[in-house]
Amino acid sequence: MAVSIIPKPLAKINGSFFQKDILSLSQFDENSLMHLFEVSSHMRFIAQNSLSADILKGTITTLLFYEPSSRTRGSFDAAIKQLGGATVVVENPQQFSSVSKGETFEDTIRVFESYCDAIVLRHSEVGSCLTAAKIAKNIPIINAGDGVGEHPTQALLDMITIYEKTKKLSGLVGVCGGDIKNGRTIHSLLNGLSLFPRNTIYLLSPEILRLDKQTLTDFRKKGLKIVEIEDMHQIPKNADFWYWTRVQKERFDNMEEYKKVNNKFIVTVSNYNKLAGKNTILLHPLPRVGEIEPGLDSDPRSEYLRSQIRNGMFVRMALTSLVLGKLK
Ligand code: NCD
Repeated sequence: MAVSIIPKPLAKINGSFFQKDILSLSQFDENSLMHLFEVSSHMRFIAQNSLSADILKGTITTLLFYEPSSRTRGSFDAAIKQLGGATVVVENPQQFSSVSKGETFEDTIRVFESYCDAIVLRHSEVGSCLTAAKIAKNIPIINAGDGVGEHPTQALLDMITIYEKTKKLSGLVGVCGGDIKNGRTIHSLLNGLSLFPRNTIYLLSPEILRLDKQTLTDFRKKGLKIVEIEDMHQIPKNADFWYWTRVQKERFDNMEEYKKVNNKFIVTVSNYNKLAGKNTILLHPLPRVGEIEPGLDSDPRSEYLRSQIRNGMFVRMALTSLVLGKLK
């Protein structure tokens, strides 16, 4: 049976973030997103002026990361501390916690549920955050990446960056390149862009890294126009953004297969100047491992080492405050 990576309907935000699990972009709507963006811009002011804020004072959030992370874990940690909250960071629990003694995922979630006000969870299995949300009935779970499923907080920061630079979230033309099949950031971004009308996204990947058919059909049903392409020369001139990703090595069983498709599509100074427009922004969730030439880092259209990273902290400050009911 074909299974789509688009999750079944989850509790919608619908204007109230308080105590909601944040598992997928499909929970959002235009007004809730705009509200989150507005709160994020207040957070930018707090962070950039090093203001002492106590919005999250007294709260404890567990950052439970079964898979490696730099930006998501680091920015959640910084975001919460900037607002006076505390964090318990548990990295690689398979090695450094009772999980190594055989403790189940269910028990681990129950334990941290009783210590803290929210859990930010990254795990290698699709649906693990939903499972955690069902176990932890008293506190919200925030999905920080569930295998090849979704990565909603990354898409939120991606969408803020697109919105800031293009001033719109509808009628966009974008290009997503790299590992479309396994890239959870792309899945969440497509989910987010499908909430708005008239968006057209070109998906460029090697054949074996295309979106599965069922998911493709589901996105199209949601109103997103998707065009699959196989060559960089099929990219439309003057797209609003290019969103590049690495091939997700950890999702391959066979390293020979990985090597065949890795870095098939590299963004270079030369092809970007030729194929993108003068206002096309270049995004990447990072880490990059060769798929964007470093010569592009200083290009004014490159946002991956600039606003895209900073927005990650601001949006996580906003989201945590809203979910914990410290801001409305
Ligand atoms: C992404 C992830 O973990 O999915 N990284 C991130 O959170 N910024 C992208 C990736 O690892 O390729």
